[in-house]
Parts: sequence; structure tokens; C-alpha cells
Amino acid sequence: MKKTPASGVEGKVVVCTGAAGVLCSSLTEDLLRHGAKVAVLDLRGDVAREFCAKLAKKGLGQTLPVEANVLDKESLEKAKREILKKWRRIDVLVNGAGGNHPKGTCPEEQITKDSKLEDTFFGLTGEGFEFVNKLNLVGTVLPCQVFCREMLKRGGSVLNFCSMAAYQPMTKVAAYGAAKAGIMNFTKFLATHLAPMGIRVNALAPGFFITNQNRFLLLEKDGKTLTARGNKVIAKTPMRKFGQPSDLHGAARFLMSDEASFITGVTLPVDGGFMCYSGV
Ligand SMILES: NC(=O)c1ccc[n+]([C@@H]2O[C@H](COP(=O)([O-])OP(=O)(O)OC[C@H]3O[C@@H](n4cnc5c(N)ncnc54)[C@H](O)[C@@H]3O)[C@@H](O)[C@H]2O)c1
Repeated sequence: MKKTPASGVEGKVVVCTGAAGVLCSSLTEDLLRHGAKVAVLDLRGDVAREFCAKLAKKGLGQTLPVEANVLDKESLEKAKREILKKWRRIDVLVNGAGGNHPKGTCPEEQITKDSKLEDTFFGLTGEGFEFVNKLNLVGTVLPCQVFCREMLKRGGSVLNFCSMAAYQPMTKVAAYGAAKAGIMNFTKFLATHLAPMGIRVNALAPGFFITNQNRFLLLEKDGKTLTARGNKVIAKTPMRKFGQPSDLHGAARFLMSDEASFITGVTLPVDGGFMCYSGV
């Protein structure tokens, strides 16, 4: 029988995009604690470097900070060259870069006769819609093209970041929901396409975690009081709380480990039950 390493990710070289962000910095630290090596890719190279320096002080030095743009293939190719120079292989790709943005969001949930049109769907700019759509969807596709190519040699796995907005549209975030639904579809497409080469492709669909991309929707300006939307989220979450970044760790490690060797094309909700509850 094949021997499975204790943590499932021990010794694996993981490339994580958006790794300086809230969810993926936490995930990176967890992976390092379980013996993985992590290339910390982010558009904010300075933040990635500072983050890796902090990790090193904690004794977690198996990192490589790389400034890279998930929308720029040449920048990803350059990142790949740096990673291969250091570690000579790539086992896992985590597509964490992404998120929502006010410019791709409609302030009003539903239009009424009194609505100001600029606060509704009609005020969404093509540029705002495209920005959010492209960052999430194209920003997942291009890293897969660049890094999975290396995995053709010995197999590997991909972990995409989906969202609750993919299963059922949410008010306000039209562009984000469309992009995340695209990621769920793309996860299945790529899982099918790459399966013969021993590359698995799965996704996590986090429920609601308060981070930079959604703070403006869930919390008032004081940073503590829930907005009406924040209250609605809690009411629709059977566990009655927001997720903590660490709630993603086990699910992520499982999907990228050999324990999940016959699992591909799935999107796993990590959502405190948000998906299973109709709200009634
Ligand atoms: N926070 C939530 O509740 C939630 C829920 C569901 C899904 N998600 C998804 O999880 C992922 C991580 O979210 P987060 O809340 O930690 O976001 P975050 O904003 O904290 O982190 C995103 C990171 O991506 C980086 N980034 C942005 N554009 C980039 C680019 N072009 N190239 C490379 N890096 C880029 C940013 O610098 C940032 O460090 C996103 O895909 C998000 O959509 C989050």
C-alpha cells in the first residue's frame, strides 16, 4: 500500500496566488506548519515579502515571496521560473487572488420607482463589471495554464476559490457572482481535461468571512456594527457566525493531499451551513 505522509501536504511545493491576502495568508501559514513549501505570489510584492519575513521569524522559512499579477501571463511565467529555480517542482496551485470590489457592485438590492439609477444595475459600468469578472475568472484561468503545465510531468492538484454567490446569485454583487459561477464551471472543465495526466482540480466555496473585500458590505463604518446585509447573512447561517480563516485550513489541506486522490471537479462549501438552509 502507498504510504501517505502524516500531514498530506508534507514536502509539497504549493504556489498560492493572493497569498498576502486575509484568507490565503492564513492558509499559507497552516500549510507551512504542516511541512509544505509555499511560493507566496501577490500583486503586492512588498506585503508578500514582509509576510514571509514575519513567517521566517516564527521558524516558517520555507517560503518564496514573488510579486506577480494573475492577469499577466508573462509575470506568471517569470514567477514560475523563480519557483522552479528554488524548488525544481510544483505540486499544488491555490488560486486565491480574487475578490469583490465596490466598482463592480450595485449599491441597491432591488430597483424601485424612487431609486437613483446610478445606484442600481443601470449604474454599473462595463469597466467595473469587467474588473471584478476578469480578476476572479481570468485570474484563475491564466495561473492554471502556467503552473499546471509544470504538473504535466508528475501530476498535482489545483484548489480554486469559489463562493456562495456561485450557487445562487446574491443581490448587489452581479459581477462577482457571475465570475465565481464561472470558476465553479471552469473547475469541472479543467478537472475533466487534466484527469488523464494525474492532475486534480477542486474548489472551496467559503461562506462569509469578514475580509477586506466585503467589510464595506457587512460592517458599518465603525467596523463593529453589522449592516442590514450582515444581519441577513447571520440569520441565514445556521451556525450564526462568520467564518474564521482557520475554518478553511482542514478542507484545503484535505483537497490538495493524496487523501483526496479520487476527488476531482468538486466545489466544497465551507459555510457554517449557509447553503443548506433556505432561510425559513
Ligand atoms: N472573504 C470572504 O468571505 C470570501 C468568501 C468567498 C470567497 N472568497 C474568495 O477567497 C479569495 C481570497 O479572499 P480574501 O477575502 O482573502 O481577499 P483579500 O482581498 O484579503 O486577498 C486577495 C489578495 O489577492 C491579491 N491580488 C489582487 N489582485 C491581484 C492580481 N491581479 N494578481 C495577484 N494578486 C492579486 C491582493 O493583493 C490580496 O493580497 C478570493 O478569491 C475571494 O473571492 C472570499
